[in-house]
Amino acid sequence: MLVKKLKETFEQYDGQSVTLQGWVRTNRNSKAVGFIALNDGTTFSNVQVVYGENLENFDEVSKITTGSAMEVTGKLVCTPDAKQPFEIQAENVCVLGLCDHDYPLQKKRHSFEFMREIPHVRPRANTYYAMFRLRSVLSMAIHTFFQDRGFVYVNTPEITGNDAEGAGECFTVTTREDAKYDKDFFGKHAQLTVSGQLHVEPFALAYRNVYTFGPTFRAENSNTTRHASEFWMIEPELAFADLADNMDCIEEMIKYCINYCLEHAKEEMEFFASMIDKECIKRVTHVANSSFERMTYTKAIEYLEKAKDQFENQDIFWGMDLQSEHERYICEKVVNGPVFLTDYPKDIKAFYMRINDDNKTVAACDLLVPYVGELVGGSQREERYDVLVNRMKEMGMEQETLQWYLDLRRFGGCKHSGFGLGFDRMLMYLSGVANIRDVQPYPRTPRNLIF
Ligand code: 4AD
Ligand code: MG
Repeated sequence: MLVKKLKETFEQYDGQSVTLQGWVRTNRNSKAVGFIALNDGTTFSNVQVVYGENLENFDEVSKITTGSAMEVTGKLVCTPDAKQPFEIQAENVCVLGLCDHDYPLQKKRHSFEFMREIPHVRPRANTYYAMFRLRSVLSMAIHTFFQDRGFVYVNTPEITGNDAEGAGECFTVTTREDAKYDKDFFGKHAQLTVSGQLHVEPFALAYRNVYTFGPTFRAENSNTTRHASEFWMIEPELAFADLADNMDCIEEMIKYCINYCLEHAKEEMEFFASMIDKECIKRVTHVANSSFERMTYTKAIEYLEKAKDQFENQDIFWGMDLQSEHERYICEKVVNGPVFLTDYPKDIKAFYMRINDDNKTVAACDLLVPYVGELVGGSQREERYDVLVNRMKEMGMEQETLQWYLDLRRFGGCKHSGFGLGFDRMLMYLSGVANIRDVQPYPRTPRNLIF
């Protein structure tokens, strides 16, 4: 019997015998009676197993260590006055796999740093146990949101010939044999994708509304709490949509995901609110119920200039790339909530963004949120062939490898827009967990490659 199922229907099992398997979270006992907190992996909370001297292996059971796997058969008894709605009075306990004494998870609280060294047992510690289920629930929220609205899910390649963002932050892909001769992928230049955007755009021009959802890779050697070398990204692309439509979609999606997680990962979110960030539920609930501000980059620079004494980097000028402290100031101090910054200077943004009539800015939008900073980056795409070719020339880009991308502008091109949501950052935002290394099952950052 699975505990999740049992929790929904336990009243009808009152007084009956049930069999559960799971892992021991704690085992306390006195001479004649003992209590095991058992977790079978299907719910966040444990089930209490009570055992006494009626067990023929009482001595063995009283020595079961934390982390061990076991099976129990016993009578389910409803306990309406206790914290737990029911308990299991053990009649038979079978130890399936004892946990050795050097098991690294002990009762005390371990630091996040320590836990990162042991990713193979990390999912059994409460914070991670809650996080990785939340991760699964959030994936489902995203798929449900887009599938309900008729978006087609496209699998874009991980191995690619282009650097979509043009930022030069790519990992090269090669074979062992080619690497010996300093060549690339079977003689061709190849790298791990930094974004699926360029590959998903052709699908938007066939299916109208599409999205990718998969791993992306960035070779930036930045050791921050928000950057990973491998992270997951959701990249929707909408045909016949402009920047305002794009922002509407982002806002609707974020709100949907918040509500979905509050409903489907209730125990996990309550755990984060009690142990990690007291405000997290209140904060995201508020976000789900208010409208997101929209502010131009130019306006943001005005705010930053007025407050420049507060920053480490005080060199504020129009055209600068905002740093994390500046982004956080805008969403935490000026707006106190999520804010879209729009119309960035073209020189600090990617080549594919649509140039505005002022010829200085592009139709871009970044969604900034308190605590995390940039959560989403998006734009309306440049659909005018000549303008795009000129922009690529201006930026010194090679046209040849992206001719197929340019061709889309000649083969029934239309106005279209899209964005990228950082999946790992969304988990940070929901839970209040402050480091991206603690929302990833196997963190991949410059100094964190542990098997
Ligand atoms: O702003 P970015 O670089 O945008 C793109 O890649 C576009 N091609 C998206 C699109 O329009 N289809 O990245 C999008 C988001 C960021 O806002 C951030 O949340 C996340 O991806 N992100 C990272 N997350 C973790 N570690 C990193 N190194 C990240 N770099 C970006
Ligand atoms: Mg960005």
